[in-house]
Amino acid sequence: MMCIRCRWTPENVEGSFLENDILLSRQEMTQFSTPISDHRNEIIDVPGATDDQIRELLAFHNKAWGASRTPAHWRWEYQDFLPEKAVVAVARKDGRIIGTQCAMPVPMKVEGRVVLSGKSENTLLLPEFRGLGIMEDLYEFMVEECKVRGLRFLWGFTDAERAFRRFGFFVHPVVEIWSRPGFDLATGLVSRWREPRAISRRVLSMGKAGVDFFRTLPRFLSNDSGLGAESIPVSQLVAGESGERGGILHRGPASVVGQELSDGFLEWRVSRHPFLQYTARKIHDAHGEAGFSLVSLHQKKAALSYWEGTDEGNLKGLLVNFVQMSQFKNAQLTVLTNSGRDDHPMRRDLLLRQGFRPTHCTNLVIRDLSEILTGTLLEPTGWLLNGLWTEGYAL
Ligand SMILES: CC(C)(COP(=O)(O)OP(=O)(O)OC[C@H]1O[C@@H](n2cnc3c(N)ncnc32)[C@H](O)[C@@H]1OP(=O)(O)O)[C@@H](O)C(=O)NCCC(=O)NCCS
Repeated sequence: MMCIRCRWTPENVEGSFLENDILLSRQEMTQFSTPISDHRNEIIDVPGATDDQIRELLAFHNKAWGASRTPAHWRWEYQDFLPEKAVVAVARKDGRIIGTQCAMPVPMKVEGRVVLSGKSENTLLLPEFRGLGIMEDLYEFMVEECKVRGLRFLWGFTDAERAFRRFGFFVHPVVEIWSRPGFDLATGLVSRWREPRAISRRVLSMGKAGVDFFRTLPRFLSNDSGLGAESIPVSQLVAGESGERGGILHRGPASVVGQELSDGFLEWRVSRHPFLQYTARKIHDAHGEAGFSLVSLHQKKAALSYWEGTDEGNLKGLLVNFVQMSQFKNAQLTVLTNSGRDDHPMRRDLLLRQGFRPTHCTNLVIRDLSEILTGTLLEPTGWLLNGLWTEGYAL
């Protein structure tokens, strides 16, 4: 078996992945739920999903979130990378969707071993059905299918801490989003005004953005100088047939849990991303290559998606480089960090010195489905979290 679009083969990963490579038909996977309610759970066949099914799923989410995601978004998220491993579960009542719970397949390196994980996505239940146990029932239904497809653990970022505890997750409040305004204040204000929120919330958000802008103004003019960073085309991140791709991105820092940056993953996630435009930078010191960063751009928002260096000076060089190349053209600059990591105090100081502030803190939630990873997995200290884990999925 080989995924043609992403050139990924299961030989890279441990055996259980293959043993469980079974696709059940939609009929087989349809289940009538326990007496909690008369809803009905169902698995959507992702590789074979029809336009009508995709439109129905999108309409459900777009209405609830005031969003405008298109079939192209959905297809990129679920069908363009390991689609046969993705799980999309829905709860229906009287034929209409009342809830969804999905898992996107993401290969991970856990203590040097590659295992398949699932990113918990699209957790949503209509308000009138909440608090009745329907989502717990749908979640367990989805988990059974995840196990069948060889997903060894589930993870996600969420504010819904109490709900995810009930779904059997460990909750670690370690995810921090750092932001600072860019020089393009007008775009920042217009995008806040267009947010699907109450007028009072939008006005408050615009006021905060204005204050932040003037607070950061001196930074626009007097930035520290970064080390010389070399720009490299993102197409070079993929080794291709030559198998040659050096770089700190691929060696990765000594971390316990990180995304497996295979060619297929990088092509899908970075170099051929349909909505985010990525750029890459490398820096060198006397010992050779010493730092690597990825920056994503979308609608005048720039994010430092990957930020790894061998020491504080190299991390600083990459951060300053990000600020200098992004601040004048964009409305907002963001960085996602794991406050549980050992080097977090250093990163925090660097961010503060560049005018960033932590604007949102949320939870990393983890559920082990294999019972062999427990321990390593549930300790967030070694999780190499960054923007690549989350950005671009729910645009
Ligand atoms: C998350 C959700 C599916 C859970 O449904 P449920 O299992 O029926 O449980 P409830 O809605 O009763 O929520 C359980 C608890 O989680 C809390 N919670 C739910 N969504 C939350 C959110 N986005 N942020 C913070 N807390 C949240 C609820 O307030 C509730 O707390 P309580 O136990 O103190 O009353 C449902 O609340 C929902 O669809 N919320 C909106 C979408 C959402 O927030 N999804 C999660 C984003 S990853």
